[in-house]
Amino acid sequence: MIDYTEKIPNNVDLGRDRVLQRALEHWQPAYMSWWYDMGPNESHNYEVYLRTATSVEPDGWAQFGYVRMPEYRWGIFLQPRDANRQVNFGMHKGTPAWQEVPGEYRSTLRRVIVTQGDTEPASVEQQRMLGMCCPSLYDLRNIFQVNVEEGRHLWAMVYLLHRYFGRDGREEAEALLERRSGDVDNPRILGAFNEPTPDWLAFYMFTFFTDRDGKFQLCALAESGFDPLARTCRFMLTEEAHHMFVGESGVSRILQRTCEVMNEHKVEAPSDVRALGVIDLQTMQRYLNFHFSVTIDLFGSDASSNAATYYTTGLKGRYEETKIADDHVLSDAEYPVFEVSGGKIVSKNVPALTALNERLRDDYIGEIQGGVDRWNRIIEKSGIPFRLVLPHKGFHRAIGNFAGHHISPSGEVLSEEAWKNRQHEWLPSAADQAFVQSLMVGRVVEPGKFANWIAPPIRGVNQQALNFEYVRFN
Ligand SMILES: [Fe+2]
Ligand SMILES: [Fe+2]
Repeated sequence: MIDYTEKIPNNVDLGRDRVLQRALEHWQPAYMSWWYDMGPNESHNYEVYLRTATSVEPDGWAQFGYVRMPEYRWGIFLQPRDANRQVNFGMHKGTPAWQEVPGEYRSTLRRVIVTQGDTEPASVEQQRMLGMCCPSLYDLRNIFQVNVEEGRHLWAMVYLLHRYFGRDGREEAEALLERRSGDVDNPRILGAFNEPTPDWLAFYMFTFFTDRDGKFQLCALAESGFDPLARTCRFMLTEEAHHMFVGESGVSRILQRTCEVMNEHKVEAPSDVRALGVIDLQTMQRYLNFHFSVTIDLFGSDASSNAATYYTTGLKGRYEETKIADDHVLSDAEYPVFEVSGGKIVSKNVPALTALNERLRDDYIGEIQGGVDRWNRIIEKSGIPFRLVLPHKGFHRAIGNFAGHHISPSGEVLSEEAWKNRQHEWLPSAADQAFVQSLMVGRVVEPGKFANWIAPPIRGVNQQALNFEYVRFN
């Protein structure tokens, strides 16, 4: 169980390490001042029906109740230690998992932790204005839940920095509170985390696509030979699952509502659909194209010597590493990657070690496709002959082998001119965004009411009714 009587709730026996405890208690006010500045706008007095972790065991870890978000019990929770755990891949395979940072991997490991940690506050910053135009109390509560848990994920990474990286770690922990999403002078580290999340469609797409990138990165780090990192990431994954649910179900409910309105009024043309105050399916496709393409860039270059090093040294594994039936060393294995050659996309085999980013990206795309199939079943059930399609993985890429090329959603290599002529068909235009924004002026906060452009969810939170007062404004 987690000790909530401590100033910093934890299950790592923080009270026995006075130096660490003091360092974290010193960081805590800086974190709170970041939350007051960059957490959800105007929310500090709201009482929100939130879940809080009570235990790291898979069953019964959550407790629900009204909480003012600045009083949320952020803390440090690691999955329990398995004394027999080993390094399961790379050159140290078979040796006991490390409980301290191996000196030679210190700076690499610190960079991995900082890069992961930086995404957590970034998404809170990106989403901070959305409460002002929420489609319901249910959705408002959900975004706040996501935000406090991203805050806790920052705590998780900061604990590792403080506990294992001394002074450098403390400096990095401070810098995590100083960068700002989208800031020209001091931006967040990764591109997608500097893009704005201007509306709720973007938020649902973000939590479906980009939080799932988070899941895959955490899964790879949960295989790490550095045991405290692995155990931290395992617990973070239980929280991440809820974020992806919010995204997938949010998009599902928009599709549901659009299809209902299309059928009820027997309209098909996007302009007629929009005139009825719901989001046309073509715009849904363009948002999907955008969020998918910027998110798969986050996995990095197709060929990466860094990825090879992370793996060989035992720091970052593959998705479900221990379930894969191979030698877990990969010195002779190959993996196919794509590149543009002579105006065509061609596949070539490269050493599997250098293609680990691409492999993780492919694992991710497989799971994404499953979600898109579920969305399509909603459209199919309503009898509308439209299907959402995942674009080719070369579409609209800024990182890796496809960067600098113009690839259509179906995977054709285009000239720059052809791309410019057609990109508005594939990516959200300023007019699309303005239309979506026009639906989201003002917030819907009457219990049980939902904005016109989104269907209610199938069930409420924690078996509460849909008209439950999920947020009290005071
Ligand atoms: Fe997170
Ligand atoms: Fe998340």
